[in-house]
Amino acid sequence: MPSQTHPSLYLDSKFGNFVLKTNKTPKPGPGELLVRIEAAGLNPVDWKIQKYGMFIESYPVIVGTDVAGTVEEVGQGVSSFAKGDRVLYQGSWAEDRAGYQQYNLIDASTAAKIPSNISLEEAASIPVAIGATVIGLYNPKPQGAGLVAPFEASKRGHEAGKPFFVFGGATSVGQYVIQFAKLSGFSPIITTASLKHEQHLKSLGATHIIDRHNPLSSLPDEIAKITTKPFEIVFDAISASETQEAGYNILSEGGTMIVVLTTQVKSLTSGKNIIHVFGVFTLPETRELGVQFYSQLEAMLKEGVIRPNRVEVVPGGLNGVVPGLERLQSDQVSGTKLIVRPQETIV
Ligand SMILES: NC(=O)c1ccc[n+]([C@@H]2O[C@H](COP(=O)([O-])OP(=O)(O)OC[C@H]3O[C@@H](n4cnc5c(N)ncnc54)[C@H](OP(=O)(O)O)[C@@H]3O)[C@@H](O)[C@H]2O)c1
Repeated sequence: MPSQTHPSLYLDSKFGNFVLKTNKTPKPGPGELLVRIEAAGLNPVDWKIQKYGMFIESYPVIVGTDVAGTVEEVGQGVSSFAKGDRVLYQGSWAEDRAGYQQYNLIDASTAAKIPSNISLEEAASIPVAIGATVIGLYNPKPQGAGLVAPFEASKRGHEAGKPFFVFGGATSVGQYVIQFAKLSGFSPIITTASLKHEQHLKSLGATHIIDRHNPLSSLPDEIAKITTKPFEIVFDAISASETQEAGYNILSEGGTMIVVLTTQVKSLTSGKNIIHVFGVFTLPETRELGVQFYSQLEAMLKEGVIRPNRVEVVPGGLNGVVPGLERLQSDQVSGTKLIVRPQETIV
């Protein structure tokens, strides 16, 4: 039995500090799971919420939404999970549902069992970045590009013969975008990244890596050496103003560019679409895809067609969150996902 309270990392106020406090351990309601959180992934949005006061108006709040753990208690009506199952899921910014704590709740319909070939830490690298990827590519418009979702083998390869471009292949998001582009059948799959990541990104499915340090003005010439076909889909996992402009320039008429941050393209034309993806499955418009996706995720991980990010564990349990976020903010994380183990927290 979990204790009635547990340590949680609160952001105490808008633009405030992260503070370790005690939170009440909730009971799972119908359709829910109570999970003992073993690993939580760090995301850029966590420091952006603190620094820019984005998204959240009500404080104190707990953040952290990449979560993996073991099921502690099963709510009424849940038959697909049992106590002790290892699960991964996307938390949300609520006291009983966020990840930077030792226990939280999740809807069983948007959780997946973790197969034995994946560690809890690797599993915690998956939910947020894969959510942005899956919604951006496969949710019906306007939340996503509306491509055929390749979760099951029979639905794969639908985009065969079409080229795909992703900015930032070594980002956490970019690594899942490459893998799904491959499952959808796109080829070639071209990405920008530091060349030290070339071998890894090719193992995920990228066919061509363009050095991210090259000037973006040279991009059309570099692409022309690889393909002359039009890009119907461009995914910008960086979404700086200059990558968005460069992506929009190479996008075909009628094509769709998916961006992960606010749209910044200056000269929009009516024939090209931009989708600013919001990678959460809790919206009414994204929930159906989320349930469908999470029902297939365990099988995709077991099959090895989706591989988690490489991970680095930051020591100190929840006390590792602040130094980890500082590293993310100062661009000191390269091609890996930072993970903390909340159960190792010393209060
Ligand atoms: N909208 C959504 O739902 C959503 C969801 C998740 C993330 N995001 C956003 O997506 C962005 C990426 O997040 P993340 O967690 O995937 O990032 P991340 O893994 O922390 O990104 C780090 C990687 O970015 C690479 N990089 C930095 N600038 C680059 C550039 N100009 N071109 C190519 N690569 C570059 C770095 O390359 P080196 O290895 O060369 O240093 C490093 O490997 C963030 O802005 C995040 O806030 C949005």
